[in-house]
Amino acid sequence: MKIIAVSEKLEKVIAEAIIIPLFQGENPLGEVEKFSKLISGSIDEAIKLGDFKGKLYEVTSIYTHGKVPSARVFLVGAGKKTDFDSRVARNVIGAAVRRGIKLGAKKTAVYLGNRIKAEEAIEGAVLANYDPGIHKTKKENGSEIEELTLIGRSDNKTIKRASVIAEATNWVRNMINEPGNVMSPKEMAAQAKKLADEYKFDLEVIGEKDATTRGFGAFTGIAKGSDEPSYIVCLKYKGGGKETLGVVGKGVTFDSGGISLKRAEKMHEMKMDMAGAAACLGFMKVVGELRPKINVIMVTPFTENLPGGHALKPGDVLTSLSGKTIEILSTDAEGRVVLADALTYVQKLGATKIIDLATLTGAVEIALGSEAAAILGNKETFIKQIQEAASRAGERLWQLPIYPEHKELIKNEIADLANIPPSRGAGVIAGAVFLQEFVDDKIPWAHLDIAATAWLEAETPYLAKGPTGFGLRTLVKLIEAV
Ligand code: BES
Ligand code: MN
Ligand code: ZN
Repeated sequence: MKIIAVSEKLEKVIAEAIIIPLFQGENPLGEVEKFSKLISGSIDEAIKLGDFKGKLYEVTSIYTHGKVPSARVFLVGAGKKTDFDSRVARNVIGAAVRRGIKLGAKKTAVYLGNRIKAEEAIEGAVLANYDPGIHKTKKENGSEIEELTLIGRSDNKTIKRASVIAEATNWVRNMINEPGNVMSPKEMAAQAKKLADEYKFDLEVIGEKDATTRGFGAFTGIAKGSDEPSYIVCLKYKGGGKETLGVVGKGVTFDSGGISLKRAEKMHEMKMDMAGAAACLGFMKVVGELRPKINVIMVTPFTENLPGGHALKPGDVLTSLSGKTIEILSTDAEGRVVLADALTYVQKLGATKIIDLATLTGAVEIALGSEAAAILGNKETFIKQIQEAASRAGERLWQLPIYPEHKELIKNEIADLANIPPSRGAGVIAGAVFLQEFVDDKIPWAHLDIAATAWLEAETPYLAKGPTGFGLRTLVKLIEAV
């Protein structure tokens, strides 16, 4: 999407639609009031007649009848002033952009005023512009917006930055949206290599054979069930400073559950089980573009989880890279198993702080629904820092605890750990407490369970159904703070 910044008055702007956000019960003031007068008081009239109430994400079209160069105005509801924040700001613009797409407006403008930041408008618009129909031979629902004009204060650096982040998020969404037969472990590794070539990252790709001889027993235990080759992919970026942020992502390109097979209903959606790894790759793309002054090491294990003839079985015991042994009680709790080795490895490579992103449990949807991802970790300050980053990014992270008693959840008779708890309670925490076993207590670590936020089951006013790219923007905001 082409982004243009102008400081002109509303009546000078040339676009197929100008988006103007207004709060619930708000009357136009200042520039908007003047503009409304120029178009025969149409904005005031829409409000007076009750056609536009300013309710959150409500969009009302108004026509300018040739009085100004832009043919339409989209009044978009910003909701209650007291509920307004950076997340809502993005979504409000997104809701109006999605209306524009449905009407076929290719050139849209946004009035920023003093409430929408350029960053929010760009991210909201670019994310709303994503079309999930990537394998359709004919486009449906109109088509994407090509040009976005920002009316108000913005600078080139902000524009570039926000575009890079938003376009990278859509790149991630495409990867997640691709089916398992396209986005295989091999293809994910190829995408990582492309990033390494383009942005001069150090690249290490550990194939399955290598992984076996080097002791990645947890990872290879899961990988054995599939005939597709599996890989552990590492990208390293040196931007300077003392800290090295380790980012680890679950990259299961299809999760059938393995021998502990999932039900057929919705199994196809398990192509999204690499969303954590995809967000990490997208983050590295942003790092490559913006080149921040921080060191980053990314480790993403890529494999399928299939019930092949060589697949691991319930009751099998694996020896992880850390040396700890794991009894597999469900082959469907595969994410934590592959991440165990990835976490061990990222520490070997020198990470001083670690964040992992994983579509780990169905339980996170029971706990939080799709409005927030769960965050758990071993250091309160690090968790708070990530939550603050998320809030600036317009993403929500809700903390769940790990109490000492939760260790009980992964107790086992014959091995060091069990990969699932004995009963259904505290599923998200059980996943995290398992992962924690593979992290040095002295290293700040946080786990994001994004199973319910990485994929939208239904469209929202501002986002299409399907992949969201959740987590990437939080990581980007985090490196400003680390
Ligand atoms: N990939 C799934 C979790 C998931 C569920 C992601 C729904 C996205 C949407 C994970 O590997 C899994 O199967 N987890 C099990 C764990 C259980 C066996 C302890 C689950 O949540 O049922
Ligand atoms: Mn699973
Ligand atoms: Zn999984």
